[in-house]
Amino acid sequence: MSRRLVTLAVALALVLLAVAPTLAQDDLSGQLEIFSWWAGDEGPALEALIAEYNTLHPNVEVNNATVTGGSGVNAKAVLKTRMLGGDAPDSFQVHAGQELIGTWVVADRMEDLTFLFEQEGWMDTFPQGLLDLISTDEGIWSVPVNIHRSNVMWYIPDKLTEWGVEVPTTWDDFLAICPTLQDQGITPLSVGENWTMIHLWESVAVSQLGTDGWNALWAGEKSFLDDDVVATWDLFGQILDCSNADEDAATLSWQQATDKVVNGEAAFNVMGDWAAGYMMTTLGLEPETGFGWVASPGTEGTFIMLSDSFGLPIGAPDRDNAIAWLQLLGSKEGQDIFNPLKGSIAARLDSDLSLYSVYSQSAAADWQSNTIVGSLQHGAVANESFMGEFPTVMELFLGARNSQAAANASQVVCIQARICQG
Ligand code: GAL
Repeated sequence: MSRRLVTLAVALALVLLAVAPTLAQDDLSGQLEIFSWWAGDEGPALEALIAEYNTLHPNVEVNNATVTGGSGVNAKAVLKTRMLGGDAPDSFQVHAGQELIGTWVVADRMEDLTFLFEQEGWMDTFPQGLLDLISTDEGIWSVPVNIHRSNVMWYIPDKLTEWGVEVPTTWDDFLAICPTLQDQGITPLSVGENWTMIHLWESVAVSQLGTDGWNALWAGEKSFLDDDVVATWDLFGQILDCSNADEDAATLSWQQATDKVVNGEAAFNVMGDWAAGYMMTTLGLEPETGFGWVASPGTEGTFIMLSDSFGLPIGAPDRDNAIAWLQLLGSKEGQDIFNPLKGSIAARLDSDLSLYSVYSQSAAADWQSNTIVGSLQHGAVANESFMGEFPTVMELFLGARNSQAAANASQVVCIQARICQG
């Protein structure tokens, strides 16, 4: 072979090597089962991402396996049965933080994804605080697709004008306008099933304990028996007196609680910003004119965060297809397809904000400037043991409205979960 031919052959080989990973990906085939609770009204963002996966990997048949129920209350139970029964899906939704680490990582059920983060150049793409939530000294355990904000209060601007009330910035303001609304037959605050109560309680607790107090609680440095924590239950009870808690709440999903605000039956609702996704994507409302938002009372300047992520269980039947799914999920393109529809912002630092709504743009600005704490209901701060029992504490409170009893029970649950000192 002439020298020129050898040079050509070497150049060709180098080109082939460079495109090999892409070709390999297009060679994927078979199945991919993605397990989550993003069904029905919650589905459009996930479905858009799966459509993109189908375009990239047309020979893979995706099984979008969902178990309905906000905050994963039903899906997590099904997932547990499957994982313990040796029937792991290829990839599943799990909140960054203790829900991931304290459940699946400690049980040694997840693959370390450090290789993927290094390969994709993700070590500098995600905020360090978020990487900390999905990592242990042994590895990185999931790929975050978004950042949601928990402490948001939603309302319909025109309705507030009609009823003659202002948006409350403190719970005292809220309690002050409560009779004005009730006198007009309006429920001041809509609430839903048990987990939405815990969701509300976390916003109330952060408003009363401050970010340091909240963090101290989950670091085991503060007791649930402290006076200020007991007082959060007192305030929570007063707020519930201005809600539908004793009427239909237990039967309502979070979407139905949001609907009450949209329909003009209720003035406010405290819910994560998936409610923005629901109002924009499903109900077709415009942010600012169609619906308004504010940090939940007493939490201005604080961003209670949570992050949805997906991991790779050990023994995933279609590992290569699952890795391609995680690659898409963590990519700029994937995050900018998913999040504008979901009401969340990208977990990555480099997303194209021009693709997002004014609501999400404001959340992105707050994410940069606010004090960040982790959500309780959505897996960031407390382990599975605590989260398994706290709904019973909430039920106890909803029935008896006894703050001291709720505080005592919380402390027992906290000790059992090995968060609080015994
Ligand atoms: C959260 C989850 C959100 C949204 C919400 C309501 O736990 O992080 O993405 O799905 O539940 O179901």
